[in-house]
Amino acid sequence: MEKLLYTGKAKQMWQTDDPNVLRVVYMDQATALNGKKKEHFAGKGQAANAISSLVFQYLIKNGIPTHFIEKLSATEDLVKKCQMFPLEFVTRNVVAGHFATRYGLKEGKALPEPVEETFYKSDELDDPFINESGTIALGIASHEQLATMWQLCRQVNALLKPLFEKAGMQLVDFKLEFGRLEDGKIVLADEFSPDNCRLWDLQTDQHLDKDVYRRKLANLTKTYDEVLARLEKVVKED
Ligand code: C5P
Repeated sequence: MEKLLYTGKAKQMWQTDDPNVLRVVYMDQATALNGKKKEHFAGKGQAANAISSLVFQYLIKNGIPTHFIEKLSATEDLVKKCQMFPLEFVTRNVVAGHFATRYGLKEGKALPEPVEETFYKSDELDDPFINESGTIALGIASHEQLATMWQLCRQVNALLKPLFEKAGMQLVDFKLEFGRLEDGKIVLADEFSPDNCRLWDLQTDQHLDKDVYRRKLANLTKTYDEVLARLEKVVKED
């Protein structure tokens, strides 16, 4: 019997009969302001899953260790069970979002080098910023594990920036999460979709990510379908 382990903001995690394998279900839901704003969007789960599966398969093909096993259906994947680090790794290539508001900057300037930020995942605390020594003090991860995860973030950025560019989109920023398999190996987990990255059209700077929901700019599902169509085209050609 499958057991529901966790309902997140946009996904559910189910324990399968295999203790090392989970089933992820992408829901037709979007949230903003750390879950304080929530809305139903028909077809959004399917589009986010399709995009994330494509990206994970592309990363695996290029040597990134991940939790992804296979896409099961339009809205479901099988993934390896791992112990998650309660950390969010944000990489920024362009000024946007909280980097703009925090430092009083206008969105859109390319950063001279990627900005790397870590946040402690905690709904009660609103995911506060945490630095390396804070992470060590809280016993969340070792220096070595942090170095491995940041190294993977840099590799993911180096692979995905040109991939999205080929698809006519600028990878402005993104958030990654990592987990540990039973043997201690660190793998990329969670998802990679417009829910956790910013994508701007290369020509027009049109937003093609969850900001269309956060800022009420356009239809969310249609936007994700557009990203999927563009990605499918370039991944096929790759
Ligand atoms: O909000 P902020 O500018 O810090 O977000 C940076 C990037 O991280 C964005 O792509 C955003 O979608 C992602 N993010 C996320 N989950 C969070 C916070 C940020 O996916 N809890």
